[in-house]
Amino acid sequence: MTFMKRAVGLVVFIALLAGAIRAEKMVVAAEPLAAEAGLQVLRDGGNAFDAAVAVGFVLAVTYPTAGNISGGGFALVYRPGSEPVALDFREMAPLRATADMFLDPQGEVDNDKALYSALSAGVPGTVRGLAEIHEIYGSWSWARLIQPAYDLAAQGYVLSECLAGRIAGVRDKLARDPDSAALFLPEGNPPPAGHRLVQPNLARTLRRLAEGGPAAFHEGELGADFIAGIQAKGGIMSREDLAGYRAVWRTPVRCEYGPDTLYNMPPPSAGGISLAQILGMFARFRPDDLAHNSVGYIHLLAEIEKRVYADRNTYLGDPEQVPLRWTKLLEPAYLRRRAAEIDGQQATPSGQVKGGYGELDTGGLRLQESAETTSYLVLDDAGNCVSVTYTLNGSFGSGILLPQTGLLLNNEMDDFAAKPGTPNLYGLVQGPANAVAPGKRMLSSITPTIVLRDGRLRMALGSPGGSRIITTVLQMYLNATLFGMDAPAAVAAPRFHHQWLPDEINLEPALFADEALKKALLDRGQHVSQRERMGDGVMIVRQGEGAYSASADPRGCGTARVE
Ligand code: DON
Repeated sequence: MTFMKRAVGLVVFIALLAGAIRAEKMVVAAEPLAAEAGLQVLRDGGNAFDAAVAVGFVLAVTYPTAGNISGGGFALVYRPGSEPVALDFREMAPLRATADMFLDPQGEVDNDKALYSALSAGVPGTVRGLAEIHEIYGSWSWARLIQPAYDLAAQGYVLSECLAGRIAGVRDKLARDPDSAALFLPEGNPPPAGHRLVQPNLARTLRRLAEGGPAAFHEGELGADFIAGIQAKGGIMSREDLAGYRAVWRTPVRCEYGPDTLYNMPPPSAGGISLAQILGMFARFRPDDLAHNSVGYIHLLAEIEKRVYADRNTYLGDPEQVPLRWTKLLEPAYLRRRAAEIDGQQATPSGQVKGGYGELDTGGLRLQESAETTSYLVLDDAGNCVSVTYTLNGSFGSGILLPQTGLLLNNEMDDFAAKPGTPNLYGLVQGPANAVAPGKRMLSSITPTIVLRDGRLRMALGSPGGSRIITTVLQMYLNATLFGMDAPAAVAAPRFHHQWLPDEINLEPALFADEALKKALLDRGQHVSQRERMGDGVMIVRQGEGAYSASADPRGCGTARVE
């Protein structure tokens, strides 16, 4: 052992004795089998990065709502002593995509095409994303990390109440595709809890991936079978698309809030910029004077969110194709100007709010439907931490299953503005910056977050929820930071959300039931609506000088495993 290693070991040992660092292994995921598989990797000596790869593959088997091989996502990766880095493995539009591919002959958005057809699939990024994490930071072999997922696909697992409920919730979507129906709706019906779900085709895909490495999917026969499957169902994705796909390391958006530094995704996710804008404006008021979920707090954040989502939807898109100097959106003078527009007592109608650097035309609103994505966190006892959020976009993606590979198709293309000015699945009204174009990455709201304080990990968090991801992560962060909550309380607290258009504050039932709160918001000119559940958060928080608390969201099926 070198002198340096010995010295570091001594410091860690003393810190452990003093309780300054609690050596703990933690995995927080939206599905318990995946959390357990990740913890097992940590128990067996794998590091947080190994566990993150294993959990990613297991969720593709045990959480088909959002876990995936054929979707995409983002990750924040942290190693003690260095700054977090951000990984973009977002899907991209196939090379044969065109700006008007989701319009009908009348020029209106065809939802069937944008959400439920093989055309709705973006070129998957998950395999390359997990491979990047594995190659750079992993310590186990790729094949060993895929083994737990393979076992669960080949031998099957018993459906929980929660997952059975998720399948039942998208029954109509799954019934549209005979291959999905054959697997997920045996005898035509959603299976009950207790049913053993065996996925032999997916198991074969995992074995091919384990044996052939990521190239088997992006350049090899496995990928060829995937593309043949898509084309047989009317898709335009090609082998060239798969071969050309790259995951990209990006410099995180950094945002200071009090003693914390938050690290987050830059475009093609809006998450980091939007979160930093909200916190940057919020800090200009007197946040410490506001009670948790009080009318003043909700009003102020809603007014800020209107302006931030107007910017998001107007300016942001794939940075490779929309060369935006997005740092302009975070300049202190700009945030001061935007914050100065806000009246603490009276709402500005969304129709009067525009992107702060210019205008956007908006159209009518489309209905929203529920959907899924999933976030997970891994922390190892060396302090390495990964926050991943990845997705098929809609719950079970487009609901289309490719029989030969057992892979579900994502419907991420709907995250583009299929027709600029017309809302997408999440009601987001977006502009030409996020129009469809070949090889372009669709704008996301995914917000995996790492927070450091005094150079040490203070928090890791993330959530699904479409456009609500940003405000879900924001509220979990503020709950812990401003209101001193531990992870379970910060994740469980009722949420609210404004996204500029439609002009309404979504309130979860516990807030919506508060008549006095609703009246006070209406008196300030806000519009309110009830929204059943927003997000499915995961969170790890260091409490004071040592212990971490971890939690999955009671709104979802997940669990936090700590050892
Ligand atoms: O990238 C995005 O912003 C969306 N595709 C995320 C979808 C999502 O969170 C759905 N979950 N509820």
